[in-house]
Amino acid sequence: MITIKSAREIEIMKESCKLAAKTLHYLGKNLKIGMSTEDINKMCHQYTINRNAIPATLGYHGFPASLCTSRNEIICHGIPSAKDFLKDGDIINLDVTSIVKGFHGDCNATFFVGNVKPEIKKLVEVTHECLLAGISVCRAGAHIGDIGAVIEEMAHDNGYSVVHEYCGHGIGRGFHEEPQITHFGKRGTGVEMRPGMTFTIEPMINIGKRHSRVLDDGWTVVTKDKSWSAQFEHTIHITESGAEIMTTFSPEEWTADDDKL
Ligand code: MF3
Ligand code: CO
Ligand code: CO
Repeated sequence: MITIKSAREIEIMKESCKLAAKTLHYLGKNLKIGMSTEDINKMCHQYTINRNAIPATLGYHGFPASLCTSRNEIICHGIPSAKDFLKDGDIINLDVTSIVKGFHGDCNATFFVGNVKPEIKKLVEVTHECLLAGISVCRAGAHIGDIGAVIEEMAHDNGYSVVHEYCGHGIGRGFHEEPQITHFGKRGTGVEMRPGMTFTIEPMINIGKRHSRVLDDGWTVVTKDKSWSAQFEHTIHITESGAEIMTTFSPEEWTADDDKL
């Protein structure tokens, strides 16, 4: 079932989405070479609970942490670890999902650690462009397939591949609601977008081949060929005229308190 959110529900989702976006921004600002991914997890957890919110990933189908930390060849669902340290030249995706008043906000971004090779920087930049291209085709009356079509086109034009096994998703009271948003597909196909729909777009783009594999921990998804992978995610809201990015905030909305854990 695809849920259409009421104006009141949208107002609550704006809160959860803004908190997720601010948390992600805070974590990105505070990344340092030599820190462990568990250090990031601790910050994320504290930042979230100190603002009366809940980190949605903690305990979700048994996931053991308050965010996903996915480095280099990890596509998604990386588990923070006290033994996993950030090093110069890495890229790391932080995926933050916050629950406020029963509603979820979900976003992620890939960050540079120190000096990243130009070809990897380009992968990350193009992946961000893929997300924005996907969002740009969203409006009432458009089809879910339109999103995947533009993302796939942009990735392939740059010689990259699109991960097929993991998708964007409807979001609201549920973390993962219908519909599934694939990051590949055909224009004009799939569910028609309607005002009040809220869903994520979160393309995972590989510099090598698209195929993935899950490690023995049951969570960590890596590229089969060990090529590096980037991802960006926003939660969006379909309106009559377009799509509103919910997981964002304007610079004036960042206050001194937001810099505190
Ligand atoms: N936040 C991820 C998403 O974008 C889902 C993580 S689920 C977890 O959908 F269990 F791996 F944390
Ligand atoms: Co998501
Ligand atoms: Co996410």
